[in-house]
Amino acid sequence: MKIGIFDSGAGGLTVAKSLIEQPIFNEIIYYGDTARVPYGTKDSNTIIRYALEAIEFFNNFNIDALITACNTVSAYALPSMRSKANYPIFGVIEPGILALNNKIEDKNANILIIGTRATVNSRRYEDELKKLGFSNITSLQTGMLVPIVEEGITQGKVLDAMLEYYFKDIQTPDAIILGCTHFPLVAEAIGNYFSNKPLLIHSGDAVVEYLFNKGYTPLEKEPQITIYASDNVIGLRQIASQWL
Ligand code: DGL
Repeated sequence: MKIGIFDSGAGGLTVAKSLIEQPIFNEIIYYGDTARVPYGTKDSNTIIRYALEAIEFFNNFNIDALITACNTVSAYALPSMRSKANYPIFGVIEPGILALNNKIEDKNANILIIGTRATVNSRRYEDELKKLGFSNITSLQTGMLVPIVEEGITQGKVLDAMLEYYFKDIQTPDAIILGCTHFPLVAEAIGNYFSNKPLLIHSGDAVVEYLFNKGYTPLEKEPQITIYASDNVIGLRQIASQWL
């Protein structure tokens, strides 16, 4: 089976990595819209338009399913995308919510959601977690972590200063939803900031767990992956070779 993976840029590679480590598909076609990243600062109409253009891109590949490995797109565009495709399209928000729910029993646990401005404003994580009974939720826009990851900066003083800026008033949470697929690339620094106490929920691992629950079965062999970018192919290749 051939799976498409779509993100605004390099972040979806964190989902691709999970699907390489726990293979489910023989072939991965990855598309990062690096010409227009970040999506998280855009309006919902623009995010939907870009997502529909990604569907047109994937029309060239005869894919069996698509993972929207972008929380921002998953928050706004899944219904429009599904109306244009004749294969299943999976987002990353529902899997992330289920992963957290499976791992955290205490409904009063202190949950921190971090994501782009668009994802946080959509309230998708917050509303669904509240429906499941979680009551102690903080949502925080940490969109500057997206360009820093696209720059290939995953450690060091600039990143640490950014984490201090975002987290200085935040109490150490029990769990953090990395509600942007770029964030696992800086997960080590985020974990360290909070002395590695919080459980980190990662979209890639959550999607793999979700697909297994949907009846997809593991394969023995690593998938073949082909990576496409709408701009800065060299930059994406560098991040891919580091991360994958
Ligand atoms: N990686 C994306 C996400 O999961 C979006 C980052 C962006 O383009 O702003 O939300």
